Amino acid sequence: MGEGDKTLDDYRKVADLIKEKGYVVAFTGAGISVDSGIPAFRGGQGLWEKYDPMEYAHISAFGNNPEKVWIMLREMAQVIFDSSPSPAHIALGKLEKKGYLKAVITQNVDGLHHIAGNSNVIEYHGNHRWLICMSCSKRIPLSPEIVSVQPYPRCEKCNSALKPDVVFFGEGIPMLEMIRANEEANKCNVMFIVGTSGVVYPAAEIPYTSKSKGATIVEINPEHTPFTSSISDYFFKGTASEVLPKIIEYIEYG
Ligand code: OAD
Ligand code: ZN
Repeated sequence: MGEGDKTLDDYRKVADLIKEKGYVVAFTGAGISVDSGIPAFRGGQGLWEKYDPMEYAHISAFGNNPEKVWIMLREMAQVIFDSSPSPAHIALGKLEKKGYLKAVITQNVDGLHHIAGNSNVIEYHGNHRWLICMSCSKRIPLSPEIVSVQPYPRCEKCNSALKPDVVFFGEGIPMLEMIRANEEANKCNVMFIVGTSGVVYPAAEIPYTSKSKGATIVEINPEHTPFTSSISDYFFKGTASEVLPKIIEYIEYG
């Protein structure tokens, strides 16, 4: 059997598994949004290649110098405004409609899973489409107007710096998201790992939890990751937008 035949066989096996078992959870990272126009963090055009995350994405850096950090945040906001769901996001929307996908646990802050129609989205690292006041916790939606305020946007109630409602380095994961993610990781019998390098903790623990509960792990990434040789039962080498729509096709047409 050639390599191509093996891959086709894997598509069929994964599609059958999903139809038979039926409780799928997707764990996603920046790679799923690359085809939405948002570069991943590490490598190539990645934000962390241009900005040192300790200088621009650590909570104490924001506290000490919000003006500097907002230079990077404005860039991020513009990229998010210009983005739209990729074929991979749309495929996950379809998988939920078919009744198989029960939750998406995402490390992404772009909000694209909601826009693509997924209803149970656990945003482990928060959502950049909202801003939160560092003092009074008031939240307001991100908009081009507020982003353009110089030297940085402030709370209209208490004048403190507004920060995107995302988890900065040095901050904890929101408790509710942690609990929900853990619950879904324990419940699923098939877990997709899509477009994540698996190096940021505690998020990267999630697939190990599912594996330990007996879930089948299906990984999709153009590159190998720490998951590939340790827990992935299936590895589809390719972009999320190539592979996920094809898995849906196999579910629909066999
Ligand atoms: P990374 O930038 O670390 O990894 C992106 C992964 O996507 C890599 O494994 C790539 O090989 C893969 N990839 C690239 N293009 C792809 C495509 N078209 N389809 C599928 N996969 C592709 O991003 P994350 O793993 O998400 O944290 O990073 C984790 C966290 O680190 C982020 O949530 C963020 C960052 O610091 C916070 O914001 C707190
Ligand atoms: Zn405030």
